[in-house]
Amino acid sequence: MAYNLLKGKRGIIFGALDEHSIAWKTAERVHEEGGTFVLTNAPIAMRMGQIKELAAKTNSEIIPADATSEEDLENLVTQATEILGGKLDFVLHSIGMSVNVRKGRAYTDEKYDFTAKGWDVSALSFHKVMQSLYKADAMNEWGSIVALTYMAAQRTFPDYNDMADNKAYLESVARSFGYFFGKEKKVRVNTISQSPTPTTAGQGVKGFDGFISYAEKMSPLGNASAADCADYTVSLFSDLTKKVTMQNLFHDGGFSNTGVSQEVIDEFTE
Ligand SMILES: NC(=O)c1ccc[n+]([C@@H]2O[C@H](COP(=O)([O-])OP(=O)(O)OC[C@H]3O[C@@H](n4cnc5c(N)ncnc54)[C@H](O)[C@@H]3O)[C@@H](O)[C@H]2O)c1
Repeated sequence: MAYNLLKGKRGIIFGALDEHSIAWKTAERVHEEGGTFVLTNAPIAMRMGQIKELAAKTNSEIIPADATSEEDLENLVTQATEILGGKLDFVLHSIGMSVNVRKGRAYTDEKYDFTAKGWDVSALSFHKVMQSLYKADAMNEWGSIVALTYMAAQRTFPDYNDMADNKAYLESVARSFGYFFGKEKKVRVNTISQSPTPTTAGQGVKGFDGFISYAEKMSPLGNASAADCADYTVSLFSDLTKKVTMQNLFHDGGFSNTGVSQEVIDEFTE
């Protein structure tokens, strides 16, 4: 159901690779709610992904940008405000990638240039995105910036590897930049800590299938899907959450506050 929550609002959505992507589902929901936006992804993802299909469906333009490149981001912000006809009201950072995970390196055997690349893409890019928006004064007052994260920032999940450290950094950047964006521009900045979700990035994590079933059994409401995450993000882009900022918001069916569930106890009871 659509409520016109984002009517007249403009934004940028990073990270829609294919129909499973959280950003893809979010773009569809934002469109349904009346928002207009520019889609962006790394130039390489343009070739792999089906982003053109999403652009056609949502009447959006695509501007390629590597989120680690300050030049690309400056160009993206300038072009997006021109295309959309004004300053922005929302931005979704839905970007993550670990070279150590991709190359099968254990956390205890990291190759540090892989670590640095993964940190740049997954964590520092959020600072770069916000600094580009801030310097260009591209956000409207009461705008909203959201990035996606995972609970491995707070608790250890062995196979999440160096992405755990990247997410901890990302969440810290949300708080630190959220202070300045709030004070100077009345813009809110939050991270959503999402359940494990079957996407390209999610399935790259070793043991993902066992892990997603475990999380499903541990969460009183079950795992939050990509579509659920899109709904939650829409609420954070809307005017109904104007004073929520600098928060890491768990969106996980209750997983993060559950010690153990009956289903998991049953698995261990003979
Ligand atoms: N899938 C999960 O289980 C899960 C759980 C919690 C949080 N998240 C987070 O959600 C976000 C979106 O991931 P997803 O699960 O939708 O997977 P996805 O693979 O569909 O999206 C990841 C996106 O990052 C983009 N990207 C990679 N390098 C980039 C670069 N240099 N510049 C710009 N974009 C780049 C990819 O092209 C892709 O579109 C990520 O931050 C991820 O860590 C995912």
